[in-house]
Amino acid sequence: MSKSTNIVWHESSVTKQDRQKLNNHKSGVLWFTGLSGSGKSTVSVALEKEIHSLGIRTYLLDGDNVRHGLNKNLGFSPEDRTENIRRIGEVGKLMSDAGVLTLSAFISPYQEDRDQVRALLEEGEFIEVYVKCSVDTCETRDPKGLYKKARFGEIKGFTGIDAPYEEPVNPEIIIETDKQSLEESVQVIIEYLKKTGYLG
Ligand code: PPS
Repeated sequence: MSKSTNIVWHESSVTKQDRQKLNNHKSGVLWFTGLSGSGKSTVSVALEKEIHSLGIRTYLLDGDNVRHGLNKNLGFSPEDRTENIRRIGEVGKLMSDAGVLTLSAFISPYQEDRDQVRALLEEGEFIEVYVKCSVDTCETRDPKGLYKKARFGEIKGFTGIDAPYEEPVNPEIIIETDKQSLEESVQVIIEYLKKTGYLG
């Protein structure tokens, strides 16, 4: 891929602060990370419904969906996963600039990649949510039958089986989906958003 040269940044006349003021709430990125089958999509979908109903402008970016479009040229090698997360991070930054609270649900297995996204955003704009669940439980759930395929060697480099997942070192929020109900998990996040002034 060749790099762009001779490019100049243009400021727009309407700022992020103007958009946030119009929306009456802060913007940022709620970054869900966790194993396949841990419940990232389930929790983020339920949470989005709840906060949308409170009048918060949201957008949900989900691994499977984004890989159908923007990132359809990427696979699951470590390099491709890093590029996947980098692009999502940039999208989250644009969304945040647009005044939106983005929920993003990707395995994002590498701490360094998640830290890069954090570094892209302003202080306090990146909220790392560790969707914690044991590999055993994820494998028992196996909603897409992918763990089974990985065990049979039909998928190589599957996270938690023969590819790594680095647990978040210092996430803002931890939810434990093998111990808490969906409602409890959603509530924990809502409380955090209230406390940090994200809900207006
Ligand atoms: S990553 O690691 O953040 O780039 O992955 P992500 O974009 O979130 O995509 C994860 C979904 O892709 C499916 N899938 C795999 N996951 C992990 N490892 C391998 N090798 C793999 N191959 C396909 C799987 O459905 C993941 O969805 P979730 O929702 O996490 O179960």
